[in-house]
Amino acid sequence: MKNILAIVGLLSLMACKSTIEEVSRGVIAEEAMVVAAHPLAAEVGLKILEKGGNAIDAAIATQLALAVVYPGAGNIGGGGFMVSRMANGEITALDYREKAPLKGSKNMYLDADGNAIPSASRRGHLASGVPGTVAGHAAAFDKYGSLPWAELVQPAIDLAAKGWALTPAEARGLNSNREAFLEFNTIRPDFFIAPENQPWAEGDTVKNQELASTLARIRDLGKDGFYKGITADLIVAEMERGNGIISLEDLASYEAIWRKPIQGNYKNYEFISMPPPSSGGIALAQMLHAVEDLPLKESGFHSMESIHAMVEAERRAYADRATHLGDADFYDVPLNHLLSKTYSQERMMSFDLNKASKSEDIKAGIFEVAESMETTHLSVVDAQGNAVSVTTTLNGGMGSKVFVGGAGFLLNNEMDDFSIKPGFPNMFGLVGGEANAIAPGKRMLSSMTPTILTKNGELFMVVGTPGGSTIITSVFQTILNVIEFDMGMQEAVNAPRFHHQWLPDVVRFERDGFDSLTLAQLRNIGHNMQPSGNMGRVDAILVLPDGKLEGGADLRGEDAARGF
Ligand code: DON
Repeated sequence: MKNILAIVGLLSLMACKSTIEEVSRGVIAEEAMVVAAHPLAAEVGLKILEKGGNAIDAAIATQLALAVVYPGAGNIGGGGFMVSRMANGEITALDYREKAPLKGSKNMYLDADGNAIPSASRRGHLASGVPGTVAGHAAAFDKYGSLPWAELVQPAIDLAAKGWALTPAEARGLNSNREAFLEFNTIRPDFFIAPENQPWAEGDTVKNQELASTLARIRDLGKDGFYKGITADLIVAEMERGNGIISLEDLASYEAIWRKPIQGNYKNYEFISMPPPSSGGIALAQMLHAVEDLPLKESGFHSMESIHAMVEAERRAYADRATHLGDADFYDVPLNHLLSKTYSQERMMSFDLNKASKSEDIKAGIFEVAESMETTHLSVVDAQGNAVSVTTTLNGGMGSKVFVGGAGFLLNNEMDDFSIKPGFPNMFGLVGGEANAIAPGKRMLSSMTPTILTKNGELFMVVGTPGGSTIITSVFQTILNVIEFDMGMQEAVNAPRFHHQWLPDVVRFERDGFDSLTLAQLRNIGHNMQPSGNMGRVDAILVLPDGKLEGGADLRGEDAARGF
C-alpha cells in the first residue's frame, strides 16, 4: 500500500509541477482559490478574484471558460448545480439541470415491442434535454454577482475568438470523437475536425468563432442571448434538421430554480449539498449517517474493515436512489425519511462485520407515509470567505456529439439520466423506475454532488467531482479521507477510490490502488471486487487550521488549483 501511495504522490508531483512540500499539502493560497478541470479556466477564475470579484463571479467566469477550452464537459448546452455558502452563513442550492422537452414522453425511447433503445437517449438530437447552464449563470449573477456581467463573459469570448492551445487530453478527446462528430452533425463542425491524416496534437491552436459570437450575445443580452433570438433559433433549426424535439417554447420557458439545500451533520461537521433533482445530497447524507458510529478511524484507511463498512453504506443508499429519487417537482420523494439518521443507521443493522451483504437482499426502504412532495466540477473560495461548489455536465463526454450549427456549442445527452424503462440500466449502469420516468418538463435524476462542509460553524471544505454514478461515492470517500483518515486535501483527492452502486452487485476499485491482501480479504467475505479505470476528478478546497486554503486538484486529469 505504501508503495502505491508513493507512486500516486510521485504522479501528483509530476502533474502539479510543484515542490515536494506543496504536493504533500497541495497548492496553498493565503486568501482565495479556484480549483477546476483546466488550467486556463482556473486562471480565468483567479483573475476575476484578483479584480475583486466574489466567488459567484469567479464560478460563472470559470464555467464559461470551461465551455470553451474544455468542450467535453464544460458547456452552455448542458446543465448543472451550484451550492454556495456566503461568508454571512447564507446557503443556497441553484438547480439549472436540463429538463425533458415538452414533446418528450415516458416511452419515447422504447420500440414498438416495448424494448429500450438506449442509443437514442445517448447520441444524436433526441438525446438532449433543454439546456439550463446559461439560465443558471444568470440567476446566480442576479442574486450575488458583483462585477459587471460582461466582465465575466468576456474572458471566454476572448479564448474562443483568439484560440487556445490544446492540452494532450483535449487533443485526444477531439481526435477520438472525430467520427462521432461527422456522424451526428447536420453541419460539419470544422473548428473541431482536424485535417485528414493530421490529428490534433498537444499545443495546436483551436478557435471557435461561432461560439465566440454566441457568447457575445450572452454577454450583451444575458439569459435572452441564449433562450431567445438568434441562439434559440439556431438551436431549433438544428433540432429540425436532426429530428430533435426541443422547441422555442421549451427554451423561452426554461428557468433555473433556487432550492433548499440538503443539510445534515456528521460528528461536528455540517454538510450542505444538492437536493433533488440530484440524488447526490441525499445519498451522501445517507452514507455519512450509516458510517458515523462505526470505528473507521481505528480500522484504518483502506483496511478491509473500513472498505467493507463503506461499501455496505454505499449499497444501501443506492438501493434507495433507484426507487425513491427523481425530480421532486414531479414525484413525491420521501426526503425526511431518507435523511433521518436513525433510518440509515437501522439499515446498517443487517451489516455483518464478517460477510458482504447481497444486493438481492437489500431492497429500498418502504415508507408508510407518503410525503409531499463528461461533467466537471469546480470549487471556489474568495477572500471574503464566500464558497461556491459547482458541478456541471453534458452527461457523456461531448454530450450528444451534436453541435448547434452556427452556434459552436455541443448539446447534452442528459435524457439518458432518466429511467427510459423501469429497471433498464442507463449508461452508468444505474436503474430506476417511476420516480425517474420521463415526463414533459421534468428534470432527470442526477448524481452530481457539489458539497460544502463547515466545522463548528466555519467554512471547512468545498468539494465535488464528475464521474456519473461514482460521483457520490467519490465525494463520500474524499470527505472521510480528511475527517477520519487525517489526510490533507491533495492527499485525500489523490487517494485511490472504490465504488458500489447496489446494482450491479460488484465493488469496482481503481486498478493498482489497493493492496492484494486487502482485496483478498474483501473477496473472502463475499465482495465481488472488480478492477476499473480512474474514478472521478475531484476538485476541492480545504480551509487549514491557520485559515489558509489548500487546493486538491485531481491528478487523474489536467486539473489545476490557482490562488493568491
Ligand atoms: O447528472 C449526472 O449524474 C450525470 N449526467 C453525470 C455524468 C458524469 O459525471 C460524466 N462524467 N464523468
